[in-house]
Amino acid sequence: MRVLSGIQPTGRFHWGNYFGAIRQYIDLQWEHESYYFVANLHALTTVRDRDLLRQLTHDAAVDLLALGLDPDRATLFVQSDVPEVCQLCWLLMTGTPMGLLQRCHAYKDKVARGLPADAGLFTYPVLMAADILAYDADWVPVGEDQLQHIEVCRDVAASFNHRYGETFVLPQGKVLPHAARVPGTDGEKMSKSYHNTLEVFEDPKVLRKKIMRIVTDSRPMEQPKDPETDHLFQLYSLLATPQEREEMAALYRRGGFGYGQVKQALADLAERFFEEPRARRAELEAHPQRVREILGDGAQRARRKAAEVLGRAEQACGVRYCV
Ligand code: ADP
Ligand code: TRP
Repeated sequence: MRVLSGIQPTGRFHWGNYFGAIRQYIDLQWEHESYYFVANLHALTTVRDRDLLRQLTHDAAVDLLALGLDPDRATLFVQSDVPEVCQLCWLLMTGTPMGLLQRCHAYKDKVARGLPADAGLFTYPVLMAADILAYDADWVPVGEDQLQHIEVCRDVAASFNHRYGETFVLPQGKVLPHAARVPGTDGEKMSKSYHNTLEVFEDPKVLRKKIMRIVTDSRPMEQPKDPETDHLFQLYSLLATPQEREEMAALYRRGGFGYGQVKQALADLAERFFEEPRARRAELEAHPQRVREILGDGAQRARRKAAEVLGRAEQACGVRYCV
C-alpha cells in the first residue's frame, strides 16, 4: 500500500497541525511506503511574497524532519520539484466538469464572502488530484476538510479511466484516526485564520507567555470543574502521560486550584514534549546542505514515479508524440 499526503507551507506548524495530522503521517512511515511533500504550488494561491514562500517551504521541510519524518523510510520532497505533476494536471483539467469544481468548499466559500477568486484557487482540487494520481497512491490520509478533494480526485480519475482505459489507481481518502480537533488559545478550533495558535517550534519563553494568556472562565478557585469540557485540560492531555492526565483530571474534579497553575504545568510539558524535535531542528538548521540533499533525493525518487505515470496518461489520451 502506498501512502501519500501533502501539507501547505502557509505558516509555521501549530499544535493543531501536529496532533491533527503530522504526527499520524509520520507514524504511517513505519508501516507503509510513503510519500510526503510540501505543497508550495498550492500555497501560491495564498502566499504571494516570494521570500516568505521560500522560507515557509524550507521551514515546513525542516519541521517535518525534526518531528521525526525519516528520509530513509519516507520520500520527502517539494511539490514544485516534480514538474510532471503540472503536466498531468492539464490532462486531468481537460476532463474536469466546471460544476464539480464550483461545488468545492475553498472556492465556494471565498466567492460567498465576496472575495476575488483566481483560476488557481478554482482548479486547486485538480492539481491536488494530479499530486495523488502521479504516484499511484492507494491511500491519502487527510484532515476531514480535505475529503471532498479526494472525492474530486476519484471522480476525475474514474472518468479518465472510463474514457481512455485503465490508467490511474483510484485512491482511498481516509480521515486520520485520533485526529482530534485541537482547541486554540480562545477555545475555538486552533487555526492560523483565528490567530489562536500555539506553534510547535515557538521560542519556549514566548510559548509560555501565550499559554499564560489562554482564555479561561471565571469560576472561583475552590469550585470543582469538569476536565472533559475544558480546553486547557484538552491541550494538557495532548502532551501529558496517562498518569499526568489522570492526576490533573482529579485536581479539576476536586477544585481548589487556579487555572494559572494548570497553565504553568502545560508550559512545562510543552517544553519537555518538543525538546528532542527542537534539538533535531537546530542540528538540521546547522547543516542546510543536508536538508537540500534529502529534498533533492526525494524529488528524484518522486520524479521517476511521476514520469512513469505521466507517460502512461499521455499515451492513453494520445498526446505522447516525438519524445
Ligand atoms: P489552519 O486552519 O491553521 O490554516 P491548515 O488548514 O493548514 O490549518 O491545516 C492543515 C491540516 O492540519 C488540516 O488538514 C488538518 O488535518 C490539520 N489541522 C489543522 N488545525 C487543526 C485542529 N485545530 N485540530 C485538528 N487538526 C487540525
Ligand atoms: N490541500 C491540502 C491541504 O490544504 C494539501 C495537499 C495538496 C494535499 N496536495 C495534496 C493533501 C495531495 C493530500 C494529497 O491540507
